[in-house]
Amino acid sequence: MKSRSIVILISGRGSNMRSLVEANLPDCRIAVISNRPDAAGLAYARERGLATAVVDHRAHATRPAFDAALAEAIDAHGADLVVLAGFMRILGVDFVARYQGRLLNIHPSLLPAFPGTHTHAQALAAGVRIHGCTVHFVTPALDSGPIVIQAAVPVLPDDDPDTLAARVLAQEHVIYPQAVRWFLAGQLQLTAAGQVRLSAGAGRAATAALIAPQTDAA
Ligand code: GRF
Repeated sequence: MKSRSIVILISGRGSNMRSLVEANLPDCRIAVISNRPDAAGLAYARERGLATAVVDHRAHATRPAFDAALAEAIDAHGADLVVLAGFMRILGVDFVARYQGRLLNIHPSLLPAFPGTHTHAQALAAGVRIHGCTVHFVTPALDSGPIVIQAAVPVLPDDDPDTLAARVLAQEHVIYPQAVRWFLAGQLQLTAAGQVRLSAGAGRAATAALIAPQTDAA
């Protein structure tokens, strides 16, 4: 099978990038691009011998100029799939259209609940009992787009945003590699109508883990 190219975009720590690199994805080359030269994840990527690049948003006066430079850096790797992993820049409509169907994001909430930032604080403030994370195809609207896979975690009575974030992050590291595996295996597609199509096996797996609370009832 022909080797595929995955480009991972990061802005900081890069733990999701790391989970993808360590997932031993079949037949693929991984490159990492950061919009921040000091992103901690870059050091890890370099240590692993991955191709890396920095496209610093501060070096570009406008969003379209930044998006164009980013697209050029991505296309230099012939990307079959672009993976946003803690990438903290909003991407323009043209950029999103260019990579339609091969642009994934992970968001630390059960979308459509709690888009935007500070999702764990939002979840605690709302008093939800279940929180989680979502992998979705990217569309121009922020933290929207067709959902591929979600993982749910309980919100515990003594949680603070950090403890909750850690519980969610552990699941991010499970579902993102899974979504990318499906994509590489041809089991995950975005249809022309903008809907997620999963193979039957992948579709079952994506909904396999349901949460069933215990109750006082005998
Ligand atoms: C993750 O929680 C991700 O869902 C969100 O930003 C965080 C990035 O963490 N978009 P990392 O850089 O992957 O460690």
